[in-house]
Amino acid sequence: EKGGYPHYMLKEIYEQPWVLENTLGGRLHEESANVELGLDLDLTRFDRVHVIACGTAFYAGWVGKYLIEELARLPVEVDVASEYRYRNPVVDERTLAVVISQSGETIDTLEALREAKRRGAASLGVINVKGSSITRETDATLYIHAGPEIGVASTKAYVAMLAAMEMLALALGRARGTLDAETARGLLGELRKLPRLVEEALERRPVVAHVAEKYHQATDFLFLGRHVQSPTAYEGALKLKEISYIHAEAYPAGEMKHGPIALIDPRLPVVVLATRGPLYEKTLSNIQEVAARGGRVVAVATDGDEGIRRHAEDVIYVPEVHPLLAPIVSVVPLQLLAYETAVLLGRDVDQPRNLAKSVTVE
Ligand code: M6R
Repeated sequence: EKGGYPHYMLKEIYEQPWVLENTLGGRLHEESANVELGLDLDLTRFDRVHVIACGTAFYAGWVGKYLIEELARLPVEVDVASEYRYRNPVVDERTLAVVISQSGETIDTLEALREAKRRGAASLGVINVKGSSITRETDATLYIHAGPEIGVASTKAYVAMLAAMEMLALALGRARGTLDAETARGLLGELRKLPRLVEEALERRPVVAHVAEKYHQATDFLFLGRHVQSPTAYEGALKLKEISYIHAEAYPAGEMKHGPIALIDPRLPVVVLATRGPLYEKTLSNIQEVAARGGRVVAVATDGDEGIRRHAEDVIYVPEVHPLLAPIVSVVPLQLLAYETAVLLGRDVDQPRNLAKSVTVE
Protein backbone atom coordinates (compact mmCIF):
# COMPACT_ATOMS: atom_id res chain seq x y z
CA GLU A 1 0.00 0.00 0.00
CA LYS A 2 3.05 2.24 0.22
CA GLY A 3 3.45 1.83 -3.53
CA GLY A 4 6.98 0.49 -3.24
CA TYR A 5 8.15 3.33 -0.97
CA PRO A 6 9.65 2.52 2.45
CA HIS A 7 7.41 5.06 4.18
CA TYR A 8 4.08 6.74 3.60
CA MET A 9 5.75 10.08 4.06
CA LEU A 10 8.09 9.51 1.12
CA LYS A 11 5.24 8.20 -1.02
CA GLU A 12 3.22 11.30 -0.20
CA ILE A 13 6.15 13.61 -0.96
CA TYR A 14 6.47 11.99 -4.37
CA GLU A 15 2.73 12.25 -5.00
CA GLN A 16 2.88 16.04 -4.87
CA PRO A 17 3.03 16.73 -8.63
CA TRP A 18 -0.08 14.62 -9.09
CA VAL A 19 -1.76 16.17 -6.05
CA LEU A 20 -1.25 19.66 -7.49
CA GLU A 21 -2.84 18.54 -10.77
CA ASN A 22 -5.82 17.46 -8.70
CA THR A 23 -6.04 20.61 -6.59
CA LEU A 24 -5.83 22.90 -9.61
CA GLY A 25 -7.68 20.57 -11.99
CA GLY A 26 -10.57 22.20 -13.85
CA ARG A 27 -10.34 25.32 -11.70
CA LEU A 28 -8.07 27.55 -13.80
CA HIS A 29 -9.78 29.57 -16.52
CA GLU A 30 -7.63 31.69 -18.76
CA GLU A 31 -10.58 33.04 -20.82
CA SER A 32 -12.14 34.77 -17.83
CA ALA A 33 -8.71 35.30 -16.23
CA ASN A 34 -10.14 33.74 -13.09
CA VAL A 35 -10.51 30.56 -11.11
CA GLU A 36 -13.74 28.64 -10.72
CA LEU A 37 -14.01 27.46 -7.16
CA GLY A 38 -17.75 26.79 -7.03
CA LEU A 39 -18.07 28.61 -3.72
CA ASP A 40 -21.50 29.73 -2.64
CA LEU A 41 -20.12 33.00 -1.19
CA ASP A 42 -20.27 36.58 -2.39
CA LEU A 43 -16.56 37.41 -2.39
CA THR A 44 -17.20 41.13 -2.82
CA ARG A 45 -18.84 41.63 0.55
CA PHE A 46 -15.89 41.20 2.92
CA ASP A 47 -13.64 43.85 4.34
CA ARG A 48 -11.38 41.59 6.37
CA VAL A 49 -10.22 38.00 6.49
CA HIS A 50 -9.36 35.88 9.52
CA VAL A 51 -7.35 32.78 8.71
CA ILE A 52 -7.42 30.09 11.41
CA ALA A 53 -5.55 26.77 11.50
CA CYS A 54 -3.00 24.66 13.40
CA GLY A 55 0.47 23.34 12.64
CA THR A 56 1.29 22.94 8.98
CA ALA A 57 -2.14 24.24 7.97
CA PHE A 58 -1.34 27.42 9.91
CA TYR A 59 1.77 27.95 7.80
CA ALA A 60 -0.33 27.57 4.66
CA GLY A 61 -2.61 30.23 6.12
CA TRP A 62 0.32 32.51 6.80
CA VAL A 63 1.36 32.30 3.13
CA GLY A 64 -2.29 33.02 2.34
CA LYS A 65 -2.09 36.29 4.24
CA TYR A 66 0.66 37.60 1.93
CA LEU A 67 -1.26 36.43 -1.13
CA ILE A 68 -4.64 37.89 -0.16
CA GLU A 69 -3.15 41.19 0.94
CA GLU A 70 -1.14 41.41 -2.27
CA LEU A 71 -3.76 40.35 -4.78
CA ALA A 72 -7.03 41.34 -3.10
CA ARG A 73 -5.92 44.26 -0.86
CA LEU A 74 -7.90 42.90 2.07
CA PRO A 75 -6.50 43.04 5.60
CA VAL A 76 -5.77 39.52 6.81
CA GLU A 77 -5.07 38.21 10.29
CA VAL A 78 -3.72 34.72 10.80
CA ASP A 79 -4.02 32.87 14.09
CA VAL A 80 -3.32 29.45 15.42
CA ALA A 81 -6.76 28.17 16.32
CA SER A 82 -6.02 27.62 20.01
CA GLU A 83 -5.20 31.33 20.32
CA TYR A 84 -8.06 32.60 18.19
CA ARG A 85 -10.65 30.83 20.31
CA TYR A 86 -9.68 32.72 23.41
CA ARG A 87 -8.54 36.13 22.19
CA ASN A 88 -11.81 38.06 21.83
CA PRO A 89 -11.30 38.72 18.11
CA VAL A 90 -13.02 41.67 16.42
CA VAL A 91 -15.45 40.09 13.96
CA ASP A 92 -18.57 41.21 12.12
CA GLU A 93 -20.67 40.10 9.16
CA ARG A 94 -18.15 41.58 6.75
CA THR A 95 -15.47 39.21 8.10
CA LEU A 96 -14.57 36.06 6.19
CA ALA A 97 -13.19 33.32 8.44
CA VAL A 98 -11.03 30.91 6.46
CA VAL A 99 -10.33 27.69 8.37
CA ILE A 100 -7.68 25.39 6.96
CA SER A 101 -7.42 21.73 7.93
CA GLN A 102 -6.27 18.52 6.29
CA SER A 103 -8.37 16.25 8.48
CA GLY A 104 -11.28 18.61 9.01
CA GLU A 105 -11.41 17.19 12.54
CA THR A 106 -8.92 19.30 14.51
CA ILE A 107 -10.86 20.35 17.60
CA ASP A 108 -9.20 23.72 18.12
CA THR A 109 -9.87 24.67 14.51
CA LEU A 110 -13.48 23.50 14.75
CA GLU A 111 -14.05 25.45 17.97
CA ALA A 112 -12.40 28.56 16.55
CA LEU A 113 -14.71 28.29 13.53
CA ARG A 114 -17.70 28.13 15.86
CA GLU A 115 -16.44 31.18 17.71
CA ALA A 116 -16.02 33.18 14.49
CA LYS A 117 -19.52 32.17 13.37
CA ARG A 118 -21.06 33.11 16.72
CA ARG A 119 -19.60 36.56 16.23
CA GLY A 120 -21.17 36.86 12.79
CA ALA A 121 -18.40 35.88 10.35
CA ALA A 122 -19.06 34.05 7.10
CA SER A 123 -16.92 30.95 6.87
CA LEU A 124 -14.93 29.05 4.29
CA GLY A 125 -13.16 25.74 4.91
CA VAL A 126 -10.01 24.80 3.01
CA ILE A 127 -10.16 21.09 3.72
CA ASN A 128 -8.91 17.74 2.49
CA VAL A 129 -11.18 15.08 4.01
CA LYS A 130 -14.63 15.02 2.40
CA GLY A 131 -17.59 15.32 4.73
CA SER A 132 -15.37 15.91 7.79
CA SER A 133 -16.72 17.77 10.84
CA ILE A 134 -15.48 21.19 9.78
CA THR A 135 -17.04 20.89 6.32
CA ARG A 136 -20.42 20.31 7.94
CA GLU A 137 -20.26 23.66 9.73
CA THR A 138 -18.73 26.07 7.21
CA ASP A 139 -20.80 28.14 4.77
CA ALA A 140 -18.63 26.87 1.91
CA THR A 141 -15.76 24.42 1.42
CA LEU A 142 -12.82 24.59 -0.95
CA TYR A 143 -11.58 21.01 -1.14
CA ILE A 144 -7.86 20.63 -1.72
CA HIS A 145 -8.18 17.12 -3.24
CA ALA A 146 -4.86 15.81 -1.92
CA GLY A 147 -6.13 12.24 -1.43
CA PRO A 148 -5.69 10.34 1.85
CA GLU A 149 -2.66 11.49 3.83
CA ILE A 150 -1.38 8.77 6.16
CA GLY A 151 2.03 10.07 7.29
CA VAL A 152 1.69 12.00 10.54
CA ALA A 153 4.01 14.65 9.12
CA SER A 154 1.89 16.56 6.64
CA THR A 155 3.47 17.04 3.20
CA LYS A 156 1.18 16.73 0.21
CA ALA A 157 -1.71 18.38 2.04
CA TYR A 158 0.54 21.40 2.58
CA VAL A 159 1.31 22.01 -1.09
CA ALA A 160 -2.36 21.45 -1.91
CA MET A 161 -3.38 23.99 0.76
CA LEU A 162 -0.91 26.48 -0.67
CA ALA A 163 -2.29 26.01 -4.17
CA ALA A 164 -5.82 26.45 -2.79
CA MET A 165 -4.84 29.67 -1.01
CA GLU A 166 -3.29 30.97 -4.25
CA MET A 167 -6.58 30.34 -6.03
CA LEU A 168 -8.62 31.89 -3.23
CA ALA A 169 -6.46 35.04 -3.28
CA LEU A 170 -6.82 35.22 -7.05
CA ALA A 171 -10.61 34.81 -6.83
CA LEU A 172 -10.87 37.51 -4.16
CA GLY A 173 -8.66 39.84 -6.19
CA ARG A 174 -10.75 39.36 -9.34
CA ALA A 175 -14.04 39.75 -7.45
CA ARG A 176 -12.87 42.94 -5.78
CA GLY A 177 -11.33 44.40 -8.92
CA THR A 178 -7.88 44.73 -7.38
CA LEU A 179 -6.31 42.17 -9.74
CA ASP A 180 -6.30 42.95 -13.45
CA ALA A 181 -6.90 40.27 -16.08
CA GLU A 182 -3.38 40.33 -17.45
CA THR A 183 -1.73 39.81 -14.07
CA ALA A 184 -4.28 37.13 -13.24
CA ARG A 185 -3.54 35.29 -16.50
CA GLY A 186 0.16 35.44 -15.73
CA LEU A 187 -0.48 33.81 -12.36
CA LEU A 188 -2.74 31.16 -13.90
CA GLY A 189 0.08 30.28 -16.29
CA GLU A 190 2.49 29.97 -13.37
CA LEU A 191 0.02 27.82 -11.42
CA ARG A 192 -0.22 25.45 -14.38
CA LYS A 193 3.55 24.95 -14.29
CA LEU A 194 3.56 23.84 -10.66
CA PRO A 195 3.19 20.07 -11.09
CA ARG A 196 6.16 19.99 -13.46
CA LEU A 197 8.27 22.28 -11.29
CA VAL A 198 7.59 20.22 -8.17
CA GLU A 199 8.55 17.12 -10.15
CA GLU A 200 11.84 18.82 -10.99
CA ALA A 201 12.38 19.82 -7.36
CA LEU A 202 11.97 16.16 -6.39
CA GLU A 203 14.75 15.21 -8.77
CA ARG A 204 17.17 17.17 -6.58
CA ARG A 205 16.86 14.57 -3.81
CA PRO A 206 20.52 13.41 -4.08
CA VAL A 207 21.71 16.93 -3.20
CA VAL A 208 19.37 17.01 -0.21
CA ALA A 209 20.55 13.55 0.87
CA HIS A 210 24.13 14.84 0.84
CA VAL A 211 23.17 17.78 3.10
CA ALA A 212 21.34 15.41 5.46
CA GLU A 213 24.37 13.15 5.60
CA LYS A 214 26.56 16.11 6.48
CA TYR A 215 24.38 17.57 9.23
CA HIS A 216 22.29 14.79 10.74
CA GLN A 217 24.40 14.80 13.92
CA ALA A 218 23.66 18.46 14.60
CA THR A 219 21.68 19.15 17.76
CA ASP A 220 20.03 22.31 16.45
CA PHE A 221 19.01 23.84 13.13
CA LEU A 222 17.94 27.34 12.23
CA PHE A 223 15.64 28.07 9.27
CA LEU A 224 15.34 31.56 7.80
CA GLY A 225 13.20 33.13 5.08
CA ARG A 226 11.44 36.35 4.21
CA HIS A 227 7.96 37.34 3.04
CA VAL A 228 6.17 34.23 1.67
CA GLN A 229 9.27 32.21 2.44
CA SER A 230 9.04 32.95 6.17
CA PRO A 231 6.29 30.37 6.57
CA THR A 232 8.36 28.00 4.43
CA ALA A 233 11.17 28.33 6.97
CA TYR A 234 8.76 27.55 9.82
CA GLU A 235 7.34 24.56 7.97
CA GLY A 236 10.86 23.25 7.30
CA ALA A 237 11.70 23.53 11.00
CA LEU A 238 8.43 21.87 12.02
CA LYS A 239 9.02 18.91 9.66
CA LEU A 240 12.54 18.41 11.01
CA LYS A 241 11.39 18.60 14.66
CA GLU A 242 8.48 16.24 14.15
CA ILE A 243 10.28 13.34 12.55
CA SER A 244 13.97 13.66 13.44
CA TYR A 245 13.51 15.14 16.96
CA ILE A 246 16.30 17.60 16.23
CA HIS A 247 15.64 20.98 17.77
CA ALA A 248 14.90 23.45 14.99
CA GLU A 249 13.83 27.05 15.07
CA ALA A 250 12.64 29.35 12.34
CA TYR A 251 12.72 33.12 12.03
CA PRO A 252 11.87 35.68 9.40
CA ALA A 253 15.43 36.40 8.24
CA GLY A 254 15.18 40.11 9.07
CA GLU A 255 14.59 39.27 12.74
CA MET A 256 17.91 37.50 13.07
CA LYS A 257 19.87 40.47 14.32
CA HIS A 258 17.28 41.02 17.05
CA GLY A 259 18.42 37.97 18.96
CA PRO A 260 18.88 34.62 17.22
CA ILE A 261 22.16 35.76 15.66
CA ALA A 262 23.68 35.07 19.08
CA LEU A 263 23.19 31.36 18.39
CA ILE A 264 25.35 31.29 15.27
CA ASP A 265 28.47 29.16 15.57
CA PRO A 266 30.21 26.54 13.42
CA ARG A 267 28.04 23.75 14.80
CA LEU A 268 24.78 25.37 13.70
CA PRO A 269 23.42 24.56 10.23
CA VAL A 270 21.33 27.49 8.99
CA VAL A 271 18.92 26.74 6.16
CA VAL A 272 18.10 29.92 4.28
CA LEU A 273 15.30 30.25 1.72
CA ALA A 274 17.05 32.48 -0.80
CA THR A 275 15.04 32.07 -3.99
CA ARG A 276 14.83 34.94 -6.48
CA GLY A 277 12.26 37.59 -5.66
CA PRO A 278 11.96 41.19 -4.51
CA LEU A 279 13.75 40.46 -1.22
CA TYR A 280 16.57 38.39 -2.67
CA GLU A 281 19.31 40.94 -1.98
CA LYS A 282 18.19 41.39 1.61
CA THR A 283 18.22 37.65 2.14
CA LEU A 284 21.70 37.49 0.68
CA SER A 285 22.86 40.03 3.28
CA ASN A 286 21.39 37.79 5.98
CA ILE A 287 23.37 34.87 4.58
CA GLN A 288 26.54 36.94 4.71
CA GLU A 289 25.81 37.86 8.33
CA VAL A 290 25.53 34.18 9.22
CA ALA A 291 28.61 33.16 7.23
CA ALA A 292 30.70 35.97 8.75
CA ARG A 293 30.02 34.48 12.19
CA GLY A 294 31.04 30.99 11.21
CA GLY A 295 27.51 29.64 10.67
CA ARG A 296 27.08 26.84 8.13
CA VAL A 297 24.69 28.09 5.47
CA VAL A 298 22.57 25.73 3.42
CA ALA A 299 20.82 27.90 0.84
CA VAL A 300 17.72 26.96 -1.10
CA ALA A 301 18.24 28.99 -4.28
CA THR A 302 16.85 29.44 -7.75
CA ASP A 303 18.33 27.48 -10.65
CA GLY A 304 21.06 29.45 -12.36
CA ASP A 305 22.03 31.47 -9.28
CA GLU A 306 25.71 30.58 -9.31
CA GLY A 307 26.70 33.67 -7.32
CA ILE A 308 25.13 32.36 -4.14
CA ARG A 309 27.81 29.68 -3.95
CA ARG A 310 30.23 32.37 -2.85
CA HIS A 311 28.28 32.82 0.38
CA ALA A 312 26.66 29.49 1.15
CA GLU A 313 28.49 26.29 2.00
CA ASP A 314 25.79 24.14 0.42
CA VAL A 315 23.18 25.10 -2.16
CA ILE A 316 20.02 23.19 -2.98
CA TYR A 317 18.63 24.51 -6.26
CA VAL A 318 14.94 24.66 -7.08
CA PRO A 319 13.30 25.58 -10.40
CA GLU A 320 12.37 29.21 -11.03
CA VAL A 321 8.75 30.21 -10.48
CA HIS A 322 6.76 33.39 -9.74
CA PRO A 323 7.92 34.63 -6.31
CA LEU A 324 4.40 34.32 -4.85
CA LEU A 325 4.39 30.62 -5.75
CA ALA A 326 7.93 29.93 -4.53
CA PRO A 327 6.80 28.31 -1.23
CA ILE A 328 5.20 25.42 -3.13
CA VAL A 329 8.42 24.52 -4.90
CA SER A 330 10.82 25.38 -2.07
CA VAL A 331 9.16 23.31 0.62
CA VAL A 332 9.97 20.12 -1.30
CA PRO A 333 13.70 20.00 -0.41
CA LEU A 334 12.84 20.85 3.20
CA GLN A 335 10.44 17.91 3.39
CA LEU A 336 13.15 15.69 1.90
CA LEU A 337 15.76 17.08 4.31
CA ALA A 338 13.58 16.17 7.29
CA TYR A 339 12.88 12.76 5.80
CA GLU A 340 16.49 11.88 4.97
CA THR A 341 17.69 13.11 8.36
CA ALA A 342 15.08 11.08 10.23
CA VAL A 343 15.97 7.95 8.28
CA LEU A 344 19.69 8.42 8.99
CA LEU A 345 18.85 8.73 12.69
CA GLY A 346 16.68 5.61 12.60
CA ARG A 347 13.47 7.42 13.57
CA ASP A 348 9.95 6.14 13.02
CA VAL A 349 9.11 8.46 10.14
CA ASP A 350 5.43 7.68 9.73
CA GLN A 351 4.58 7.44 13.43
CA PRO A 352 6.75 9.97 15.28
CA ARG A 353 6.61 9.80 19.06
CA ASN A 354 3.91 11.71 20.94
CA LEU A 355 2.08 12.81 17.77
CA ALA A 356 -1.32 11.87 16.37
CA LYS A 357 -2.49 12.39 12.80
CA SER A 358 -5.44 14.42 13.89
CA VAL A 359 -5.69 16.22 17.19
CA THR A 360 -9.27 15.85 18.34
CA VAL A 361 -8.69 16.70 21.99
CA GLU A 362 -7.78 20.09 23.32
O1 M6R B 1 -5.71 18.07 10.10
P1 M6R B 1 -5.16 19.47 10.32
O2 M6R B 1 -4.65 20.06 9.05
O3 M6R B 1 -6.17 20.37 11.00
O4 M6R B 1 -3.96 19.29 11.30
C1 M6R B 1 -3.28 20.42 11.81
C2 M6R B 1 -2.00 20.01 12.52
O5 M6R B 1 -2.30 19.17 13.60
C3 M6R B 1 -1.02 19.30 11.57
O6 M6R B 1 -0.69 20.08 10.47
C4 M6R B 1 0.26 18.94 12.32
O7 M6R B 1 0.98 20.09 12.67
C5 M6R B 1 1.11 18.00 11.47
N1 M6R B 1 1.65 16.96 12.30
C6 M6R B 1 2.21 18.71 10.73
O8 M6R B 1 3.08 17.85 10.07
